[in-house]
Amino acid sequence: MSKVMRLDKFVAGQLNGFSRSAVKQYCRHGRILVNGKKAASDQKIDAQCDVISVDGETVHYKEHVYIMLNKPQGYVCSTREGNSPTVLELVPKRLYRSGLFPAGRLDKDTEGFVLITDDGELSHKMLSPKSHVDKKYYVELKDDIRDDTADIFASGMTIDNKEVCLPARLERIKDNDKACYLTLCEGKFHQVKRMFMATGNEVVYLKRISIGGMELDKNLMTGECLEILHKDIQKLLDKT
Ligand code: URA
Repeated sequence: MSKVMRLDKFVAGQLNGFSRSAVKQYCRHGRILVNGKKAASDQKIDAQCDVISVDGETVHYKEHVYIMLNKPQGYVCSTREGNSPTVLELVPKRLYRSGLFPAGRLDKDTEGFVLITDDGELSHKMLSPKSHVDKKYYVELKDDIRDDTADIFASGMTIDNKEVCLPARLERIKDNDKACYLTLCEGKFHQVKRMFMATGNEVVYLKRISIGGMELDKNLMTGECLEILHKDIQKLLDKT
């Protein structure tokens, strides 16, 4: 499939920190080449077939980027700056590009796996309850988990007298009655907290540990990002 666009759009879109006017300057000085030849910033290129280099380094075309963030508490899943810092501020410069957004929301005090991408289509598929993509959480609670909680969650409970939840899977942790894993295939507002609240309990710590078939990388420190390789993207949509 060909992907024809102006050279300045290509370079500015692929390389962080390059404005279109910077591309023009670079072209004037012969620092950007298309298939080995000096190029004009407004010339059309095919991002899939042409070889574009800047100062001798080939620019490998990526239509989208996919970033795994281990979100710390205190950051909001939003693109807009308010009173709190946004997760986008944690994306390192080398991965940053315009159009990035967090695919789905974790609360400000929730930690763990957030996908940051500029791929709206994948985000939609991942978040739609119709796709049944599981999101798994590690949950710590104020009080012991009641014995009937797993069955209540599995049956598809109603929260706040009006919102019907899809069946969710609770896995107990041996010798610990105040912590568990909970897997949901949807993302209602404060859903985990509200589900436990409906059983008379309270979530005191929450961390998302997987999306679809992809686990949060165990070596990724809180606040760190890593780029998800294109070959692994499909795992985000895998049924578990
Ligand atoms: N459920 C919640 O209550 N909070 C989150 O951040 C995610 C799921």
